[in-house]
Amino acid sequence: MPPLSALPQSVLVVGSGGREHTLVRALLTSPAAPRVICAPGNAGIAEEAPCFSIAADDISGLVALVQREKIAFVVVGPEVPLSLGLADRLRALGIPVYGPGADGARLEASKIFTKEILLKHHIPTAPAAFFNAIEPALAYLRTRSIPIVVKADGLAAGKGVVVAQSLAEAEAAVHEMLAGDKFGAAGRQLLIEDCLFGEETSILVVVSGRDYLILPTSQDHKRIGDGDTGPNTGGMGTYSPAEVVTPALLARIEDEIVRPSVNAIASEGIAFCGTLFIGIMLTPIGPSVIEYNTRFGDPETQVVLPRLTTDLLQLLWAAACDRLPAVGPLVVKPDYAVCVVVAARGYPDAYTKGDAITLPAPAALPPATTIYHAGTARNTLGQLVTNGGRVLGVTALAPSLRDAADRAYAACEQVLCSTKYFRRDIGARQLNRS
Ligand code: AMP
Ligand code: GLY
Repeated sequence: MPPLSALPQSVLVVGSGGREHTLVRALLTSPAAPRVICAPGNAGIAEEAPCFSIAADDISGLVALVQREKIAFVVVGPEVPLSLGLADRLRALGIPVYGPGADGARLEASKIFTKEILLKHHIPTAPAAFFNAIEPALAYLRTRSIPIVVKADGLAAGKGVVVAQSLAEAEAAVHEMLAGDKFGAAGRQLLIEDCLFGEETSILVVVSGRDYLILPTSQDHKRIGDGDTGPNTGGMGTYSPAEVVTPALLARIEDEIVRPSVNAIASEGIAFCGTLFIGIMLTPIGPSVIEYNTRFGDPETQVVLPRLTTDLLQLLWAAACDRLPAVGPLVVKPDYAVCVVVAARGYPDAYTKGDAITLPAPAALPPATTIYHAGTARNTLGQLVTNGGRVLGVTALAPSLRDAADRAYAACEQVLCSTKYFRRDIGARQLNRS
């Protein structure tokens, strides 16, 4: 472990979601007691750390903030500033950053780039082909079986993937992505890949060059509706640990996917420092990579970090300083964690903003329960209001998954907001198994 005296005294967290609120909280509890600021933050973060209204994609604004506030360490939440080169700009100024440069961020920003690396390094993943013209894509579709997956190459805020249940649906997706401008530059190239079947899990790995530490397992609920129905979202809830990933399966995932991925990225010449978030399908023949993200997951972070006993500041700082092995094995609480996302009704399609929210007093919450803010703001009267599709992340810990879920749901009921919506079945898959 880096000694406390060697830890940075000031940290900037970039971003404004539930993930960033969780990061800010965890950094504030470090025994090193750093000054933590956030940009742009949200209403909940602002209660705990100074927030600066600089957008996460305003790279020059963020660099200027770091210099003006004499910030010693930057932790980047979302993918967009990473892909715009925020970490590169800061490192060029000698400021340590947790988060990859633009080259590493391409692993999330380009699905074709990632698929090429996966295939080249023989890491398990679905077979795929790449297209930038409609006719060859349609011809290829006719050679594959249904269901089939059509993916826009670039960042599309989680909406660039169509798991087509018919040839017509797949053809429509090809037309929409390559002919329409729904996805802008992100859709000018696409992948068509075979459909994988099984349960998904999120494996978050703290990476520093060829060194890595695997964070506790978790499972997201991506669809808007109970029973995994309706459109995909950024994530409607999570739980940790994901017990479908048994210790033996995790060892296999480490051998077949995590270590080969970290080594492949390094051998491609990418000096990766940050979170490699590997989306994995647990297929009947073994784990297979669906995607890489190059940041903490949201809402995975809201269940993974609260289970960590290891000091987050020491962990991320060690990664940024190329000293990850000094941290040693991560120490994880045995408790289960559940996060229920409270969204604005209508999300992921159109929804209103500015609706009043009344939160229970912290002392009125169930034990070990925390409300992380995501899309919240204060209106001109100072009232707490909704300001995004995903509004809150309600996380509870308990010795059993059932109790953690009950606590989180009790707290969701305590949240007063006329437009609140949340799934009622977060964790149900694991609860039904046990
Ligand atoms: P992605 O944006 O790559 O995370 O994809 C979004 C979601 O689409 C994933 O979480 C999966 O549920 C689904 N998906 C992506 N690729 C595949 C695949 N090859 N087979 C089955 N489902 C997939
Ligand atoms: N929860 C999925 C993601 O962060 O991409």
